[in-house]
Amino acid sequence: MTYKGILDRYGHLLDLPEHTKKITLLEGNTPLIPMPRLTRDLGAEAIYIKYEGLNPTGSFKDRGMTAAVSEAIGRGAETVICASTGNTAASAAAYAGRAGLRAVVLIPEGKVAAGKLAGAIAYGAQVIQIEGSFDDALTMVVEITKTTPLALVNSINPYRIEGQKSGAFEICDTLGDAPDWHCLPVGNAGNITAYWAGYKQYAKIKGINLPKILGVQAAGSAPLVVGHPVENPETVATAIRIGKPARGEQALMAAEESGGRIIAQSDESILEAQRILASEGVWVEPASAAGLAGLKAEIEAGKFDPKGQKIAIVCTGHGMKDPGIIADSMPTPELIPAEMGALRELLGV
Ligand code: F0G
Repeated sequence: MTYKGILDRYGHLLDLPEHTKKITLLEGNTPLIPMPRLTRDLGAEAIYIKYEGLNPTGSFKDRGMTAAVSEAIGRGAETVICASTGNTAASAAAYAGRAGLRAVVLIPEGKVAAGKLAGAIAYGAQVIQIEGSFDDALTMVVEITKTTPLALVNSINPYRIEGQKSGAFEICDTLGDAPDWHCLPVGNAGNITAYWAGYKQYAKIKGINLPKILGVQAAGSAPLVVGHPVENPETVATAIRIGKPARGEQALMAAEESGGRIIAQSDESILEAQRILASEGVWVEPASAAGLAGLKAEIEAGKFDPKGQKIAIVCTGHGMKDPGIIADSMPTPELIPAEMGALRELLGV
């Protein structure tokens, strides 16, 4: 059967209004990649990467955006607006373009990775930088959508969460059950909320087990770990550079209800996890490596026994989103004359 996107495949399980008019770029249906070397090195039964970088705009945001834009156009909206650390912006721009709507995105000045900004511009959004953080931008778009017909497509929009539940459905459909643990990065906390809602829904209708959720924030932007908003969040994982998550309460509830937890990881630990994933063929952006960084740290600290555990780690965005981080943190390629002798000498052959 031809794949037609997540509204086609899972629409009957999503709480979307009648007026929804399907806009799709055939998002979802991403691979759950087994990681044999990582599994062996960490001593688990099986570790899988849900590789969300393979969505149409390179991140998991497309799952929620197909739902949010489909609802918005169905009710007659002409413009969608969002605040973003980059991926939501690119996704909103692409789906708005597809629907023939105008997209306006607010981003924190100078803090959005090149691949995301380029995407948002290429898809035709009006990109506005603000002299402030993501949290400031979110406050502004929430405010403006209260009094204007602009449609808000941040994950405060409930249809974003509905669409993103599909990630949990896919993992369960692939494994035939939920994993024992589910690890993912946490920024504005929409995705952790959506996954937990999706797992709970599937548990009810399919009788599957529930996973424990390990949410991971970056240490410099970890309001859910320190227990209060962070005024000036900082991290190399710019996607999750968020000090006041809109769905923070729900994230904490998801972790607690599931028997899991939310922890923080340093930038070094996140970048190391990024390298480990890439070395086994899965290149993700820094924020996307936070789930593995957290899992590895918990195992190494003896707080998590991986024996016999099936673990799914969501890698939320593609490595190509943030090429700058590789240029900054890795050696530049060697330069030699275009001569065979120089090549032989360098390779020692
Ligand atoms: N990973 C990536 C690559 C992201 O872009 C985001 C969020 C997250 C994880 C965290 O997900 O917010 O649902 O907890 N990016 C948003 C954006 C904030 O604007 O693109 P969350």
